[in-house]
Amino acid sequence: MNRFMARGRENLPMNVWKVPLVDVVLGPEEIEAVTQVLQSGWLSMGPKTQEFEAHFAQFLGVKHALAVANCTAALHLACEVIGLSPGDEVLCPALTFVASANAILYTGAKPVFVDVTGSHDLNLSPEDAAAKVTARTKAIMVVHYGGYPVDLDAIAALARSRGLAIIEDCAHAPGAVYHSAQGPRSVGTLSDVGCFSFFSNKNMTTGEGGMVVTNSDELAGKIKTSRSHGMTTLTWDRHRGHSFSYDVVAKGYNYRLDEMRAALGLVQLQRLEPGNARRRELTQAYRAKLKDLAHLEVPFRDAPDGSAHHLFPILLQDPAGRADFMAALAQQGIQTSIHYPPVHLFSYYQSLWEGGHNHRLPRTEEIASRLVTLPLYPSLTMAQLDSVVAAIDAYFR
Ligand SMILES: Cc1ncc(COP(=O)(O)O)c(C=O)c1O
Repeated sequence: MNRFMARGRENLPMNVWKVPLVDVVLGPEEIEAVTQVLQSGWLSMGPKTQEFEAHFAQFLGVKHALAVANCTAALHLACEVIGLSPGDEVLCPALTFVASANAILYTGAKPVFVDVTGSHDLNLSPEDAAAKVTARTKAIMVVHYGGYPVDLDAIAALARSRGLAIIEDCAHAPGAVYHSAQGPRSVGTLSDVGCFSFFSNKNMTTGEGGMVVTNSDELAGKIKTSRSHGMTTLTWDRHRGHSFSYDVVAKGYNYRLDEMRAALGLVQLQRLEPGNARRRELTQAYRAKLKDLAHLEVPFRDAPDGSAHHLFPILLQDPAGRADFMAALAQQGIQTSIHYPPVHLFSYYQSLWEGGHNHRLPRTEEIASRLVTLPLYPSLTMAQLDSVVAAIDAYFR
């Protein structure tokens, strides 16, 4: 039991694994915070959400933070407010969760997939991005894979030279810091819009939830309106007598967060930095203990500090042995996963354009066939981590 472990969950379904892939850190503080909201009688977007937004904005050092239902909604709003429409192209990685590309599709724009940098850096390659810019390209969506910041200076230079907007998918990266030419800055704050996820496997969670951040007053205003049906006021404003009616001034959605989740988010935000520090410690331990294994590579081993350490991916030498490797670890009660099957190879994405998707992504395809994600979360004990390393060692002996 370490200080990140929650008590009283010993018999819950998560424990079918001796070492699950992920775990959530929740304590009495979350229960108290949600209970207080329930007792207050006001459940839909209101003062707790405003408090959560203010704290999140302050934590990142950004002008506006707007809470939304999930990161997919955040990405969709980001795509809309930068003005994407049918016929536009958006550069984005294929080695990501499908939500990143889906959000581009919602606007009618086309994701143009960019290859990864290499087996040492699984983020999108600025060089390949530059090579794929056309007259239709309107934006670049970057994803900080596993919490490791993308080379934002290179992406910003490309965006400036070709007049492109930048959206950051920060689902893996709350608290990650990018060492830019202007000094260290939180990821999500250096581009037009940053989008965060609070899904339950993320570094901080509200169950489902997300946040859109921006330094632009204009984009913030549009996001605020669109997340609530395009209306000029919230139920909360009308409840307080600040307004008696509303106008609808844009195409809108119901992408609001609620007060229970905002209360959870406020507590989880306090756990984020110590949780990320523990993730870093565990990542360093994995790297040290796996370094002599000839059968695998560890991406991001030499990445600059600043990652949020959301994932610990490894690359096997032989893709053909992956299923067997994962089954051997599962036999020992160790859960693993694959982040990600590349988006451009999914049947739906293949069916979207005549003749299949026209992009070949040789590095992404080769690397994705060898990827395995090992368990990583703040409550992982060193003994559990050692058991993962021992199982890998035994498999290759
Ligand atoms: C890279 C990435 N983008 C977007 C999302 C979507 O987040 P949400 O589940 O909050 O909509 C996820 C969630 O897994 C993700 O990993």
